[in-house]
Amino acid sequence: MKAAFIDRHGGPEVLKFGEMPDPVAASGEVLVDIAAASVNGADWKVREGKSGQISRFPYILGRDFSGVVSAVGDGVGDLRVGDEVFAVCDVGQEGAYAERIAIKAAIVAKKTDQLSHVDAAALALAGLTAIRTIEGALKLQAGETILIQGGAGGVAGFAIQLAKHLGARVITTASASNHDYLRSIGADEIIDYNAVDFTKAVTGCDAVFDTVGGDVAQRSFAVLKPGGRAAFIASGPQAPKPDRGDVTALRPAVGRDRPHLERIVELVAGGAVRPPEVTLYQLSDAVAAHRLSESRHFRGKLVFKVR
Ligand SMILES: NC(=O)c1ccc[n+]([C@@H]2O[C@H](COP(=O)([O-])OP(=O)(O)OC[C@H]3O[C@@H](n4cnc5c(N)ncnc54)[C@H](OP(=O)(O)O)[C@@H]3O)[C@@H](O)[C@H]2O)c1
Repeated sequence: MKAAFIDRHGGPEVLKFGEMPDPVAASGEVLVDIAAASVNGADWKVREGKSGQISRFPYILGRDFSGVVSAVGDGVGDLRVGDEVFAVCDVGQEGAYAERIAIKAAIVAKKTDQLSHVDAAALALAGLTAIRTIEGALKLQAGETILIQGGAGGVAGFAIQLAKHLGARVITTASASNHDYLRSIGADEIIDYNAVDFTKAVTGCDAVFDTVGGDVAQRSFAVLKPGGRAAFIASGPQAPKPDRGDVTALRPAVGRDRPHLERIVELVAGGAVRPPEVTLYQLSDAVAAHRLSESRHFRGKLVFKVR
């Protein structure tokens, strides 16, 4: 099969496009012919070696995808050849920048006709992360106010729509060029972080969801009311330590399973969430896709159209 892979850690230029061995579905797995796979912020961190050294090269990156089941391993009774499915790879498994992947059937969900393969790939890890954070870790309630940092990104775009669907008031941060887009997906208040210090403009929040990291994450505690809670997904495996004693810092566990993918399908089917804006690439353009992802200034999701 064709795939985009790395044979050492490094900058975007270490990404190569070429032949890799076809995977085989083991017991409990399905083989999926991938139609679309998305680029996630984690991918270039893995490529650089920032989230641990890879011991076996060549290595295929990519954590989420949509495609068609082409073979079924022993013991899989609930998926069949021809099923259109999407999934997020298990923690520690990657390999979605490819024409084929073998993956545990239990963490694969059926895609509906309403979603294209490109949309399903774009929604998979971003949606799973947003649901695990907003409904899981933060347990956001109707009537609460949440600040979602980095509104124009893939995870935040889903989180904004989910928070609105749950009846919360949503404040978000983004460059001015993204404000119309964020208004269109329901944000109540949008802060241009290049012009305004969010800690001066926002106060008394019940919750924060930070998707930016660094200094933005650390300073986010300031906007919480006493008893408030903040969740972080761009600060590594641990939440930053709060500089005040009356708030809670959470690092959501983004476990993979079928029910949370089905929740994505349900939210889209019910009209609560619409798929993000997508910029399409070929697998042979992985270098360019990583350069843009790493710039951290684009809207929505970057997706490889594989076939
Ligand atoms: N399982 C997990 O833990 C998990 C899963 C998914 C993602 N993540 C992490 O979550 C983070 C977000 O990922 P993502 O794919 O949604 O988006 P992303 O690609 O990392 O971020 C892109 C967005 O960030 C915005 N941005 C950059 N700097 C900003 C700032 N200072 N303030 C506000 N917005 C800013 C940009 O908007 P502007 O152009 O308007 O600045 C852009 O739209 C990444 O670090 C990723 O690794 C973790």
